[in-house]
Amino acid sequence: MPFQISLEPGGQRFSAAEDQTILEAALAAGLVLPYGCRDGACGACKGKLISGEVDLGTVSAGALSDADRAAGMTLFCRAHARSDLVLEARNVSRAGAIPVKKLPCRVQRLTRAAPDVMVIEAKLPASEAFRFHAGQYVDFLLADGRRRSFSIANAPHQGDHMELHVRLVPGGQFTEHVFSGLKERDILRFEGPLGSFGLHEDSARPIVLIAGGTGFAPIKSIIEHALHVGLTRPITLYWGARNRAGLYMDGLARSWESALPDFRYIPVLSEADPADDWHGRSGLVHHAVIEDLPELSAYEVYACGAPAMIDAARRDLIERCGLGADDFFADAFTFASDPAR
Ligand code: FES
Repeated sequence: MPFQISLEPGGQRFSAAEDQTILEAALAAGLVLPYGCRDGACGACKGKLISGEVDLGTVSAGALSDADRAAGMTLFCRAHARSDLVLEARNVSRAGAIPVKKLPCRVQRLTRAAPDVMVIEAKLPASEAFRFHAGQYVDFLLADGRRRSFSIANAPHQGDHMELHVRLVPGGQFTEHVFSGLKERDILRFEGPLGSFGLHEDSARPIVLIAGGTGFAPIKSIIEHALHVGLTRPITLYWGARNRAGLYMDGLARSWESALPDFRYIPVLSEADPADDWHGRSGLVHHAVIEDLPELSAYEVYACGAPAMIDAARRDLIERCGLGADDFFADAFTFASDPAR
């Protein structure tokens, strides 16, 4: 017998079979809850269990802390209903008409943008249209059945190819292959588009974008889309990296200041070494946001990067700068045994 699930505050309802996660059941019903890794690792799908019982399964402590559990939070990508449920879920949207497909793509160009960042440009099949929203990601399907997720870094209107930014993580089988084995003209198989991260274009609020490392990829997609549609909302981009090499498309980010009417770019280094000769901002990237914008109640913030950065930014910007909880949107990259996005 399927269980009935109700969402607060939106009032949406759907049913979930015993073997479906709440996220799977919602997506099957055409409701997009915020999500990222679908693997209990990033925390993007966190929401509150108001009433009912769930079986949570295995999740990472970084994604759901003891304090979260004590506050009644759960992860919708892991939780299975064990009774009818009432859940608190924010930023729920109706699924658009974009289909998720499994497709091949051909590696067109490999560019070492930094010692540990490879930019892959991949040609998409001419015979089959691949559509996506700026900010979404794809899963590469590996021969042994595993998947590795990467955000699409170009804008949807440049639809004949995909650009992906791959960070090398030592011991990560797939990313090591990208750096030492992958060649131009190789074929990769992927599934996508996936994920709910993206710009809320129906809003008029000024935008703060926060990217950590290769979290720049989906942010780049969003900005190139903004350029394409002529977005006039004020945008401030904070890009945090360890050192100058980590700002691997710094020149491009600077060029947006003259291309968009109201755009500011603020790079922030956390571990600049003397060779960097760095005279810009230093420290944690979200601390730079707090210093510059101590009052954020009128803004929307979009953050992409490691889960720890996302969690700290969400907490501090909401608690210290008055950002609305519904105005913080995030895409957390998880680096499990083999690195994902
Ligand atoms: S923890 Fe659920 S989507 Fe990442």
